[in-house]
Amino acid sequence: MTKERPDRDALARLVTAARAARERAYAPYSKYKVGAAILTKSGSVFTGANVENATYGATICAERSAIVQMVAAGDREPIACAVATGGPRAGSPCGICRQVLREFARDMPIALVAEQKGRLTRRDTTLAKLLPDAFDGSALKKRGR
Ligand code: THU
Repeated sequence: MTKERPDRDALARLVTAARAARERAYAPYSKYKVGAAILTKSGSVFTGANVENATYGATICAERSAIVQMVAAGDREPIACAVATGGPRAGSPCGICRQVLREFARDMPIALVAEQKGRLTRRDTTLAKLLPDAFDGSALKKRGR
């Protein structure tokens, strides 16, 4: 199934996938588990979770881990993303993850969900809202050599 715009059900399924991925997070230091899921134009879903490291700096976020899964599988066309965290309010993707998502999508809906004590909260945003006036590869192609 090739699609550009995900419908409500597709986003809901993506949220479920992100929550399941969150269970697999490796976050022994911060204890802040994050899961991410990316839906691509072909209808595939790729998931990721944060993977922390004793050096802290080598930690990879859930969103980037999902992007890496997508690219390694030969897909490069994300059309939606869901991110799941804990707490009373959904966490927002960090700056580096916004930039990495932008590498493969100009814009796409992003569902942010948080669960705490069985209570689920969700807010919906877009990549363009999270990262306006983004730097991208077009700047590099235009530079004079
Ligand atoms: N984290 C993510 O996975 N995604 C984000 O966008 C923000 C932060 C992770 C990294 C680290 O393992 C933990 O959350 C605390 O920063």
